[in-house]
Amino acid sequence: MLRLVTRLTNLTFADRAFFANSGAAANEAALKLARRYAIDNTGPQKVKIISFTQSFHGRTLFTVSVGGQPKYAEGFGPTLQGITHLPYNDLAAARAAIGPQTCAVIVEPVQGEGGVLPADPAFLQGLREACDQHGVLLIFDEVQTGVGRTGSFYAYMGYGVTPDILTTAKALGNGFLIGAMLTTDKIAAHFKVGVHGTTYGGNPLGAAIADKVVELISDPAVLEGVQQRSVAIKAHLKRIDERFSVFKEICGKGLLPDRRRTRRCL
Ligand SMILES: Cc1ncc(COP(=O)(O)O)c(C=O)c1O
Repeated sequence: MLRLVTRLTNLTFADRAFFANSGAAANEAALKLARRYAIDNTGPQKVKIISFTQSFHGRTLFTVSVGGQPKYAEGFGPTLQGITHLPYNDLAAARAAIGPQTCAVIVEPVQGEGGVLPADPAFLQGLREACDQHGVLLIFDEVQTGVGRTGSFYAYMGYGVTPDILTTAKALGNGFLIGAMLTTDKIAAHFKVGVHGTTYGGNPLGAAIADKVVELISDPAVLEGVQQRSVAIKAHLKRIDERFSVFKEICGKGLLPDRRRTRRCL
């Protein structure tokens, strides 16, 4: 586990990692940490969370409340309060909503379940600025975009916008269950021993597997290969479209393809 932490912190903005067993559990940790940080530093009124319609963050009660697809939250009684869902890529709406009572903005750099919709670079940059202005933590859910999928090890690196907290799972274990929340020393300090935890997070087998996965996929030649293939696939799809006019839009980033949207576009 220590080897994996060192590898992840050397690769990213983060100083620390909390290991979980899934993407949902990594997001649960991130959301709880953001609230704890804001309450400790500012007070109990700073608990509001901004999220985006069509987003997906997992299936625990907190993450279905934060996710922007009501179908996952319906039928389980009251959801968590203080969560606002805004249209994705609408910076003006986000700027208007982020304020002194906001503790966190959670966003996927490319919406996965929402239709493989990449964020506009200006949207993520604008969120970063608005968060800094109001002392709000910016959480990037990279459960789907992380570990090479978009052609950068994490998608934030390709955008050049650094979050305060990043969550990662799925490809991190390349089929084996492991998730992680990455953050800075300053923020992690609010999860003192006993405040949050899990029995199997960071277990030796999961950590050994993820360590090997990160070693292999962070190789610049592998990431370069993702970018080259992405360009080739998009060029092929464009040629198909020129011949048959079948696509409304060719979306996605790196090797994160858009199956549903493409089908809908047919
Ligand atoms: C962006 C995103 N966040 C969180 C999750 C939840 O991850 P898990 O299924 O490992 O709990 C998913 C799963 O599809 C996801 O795509």
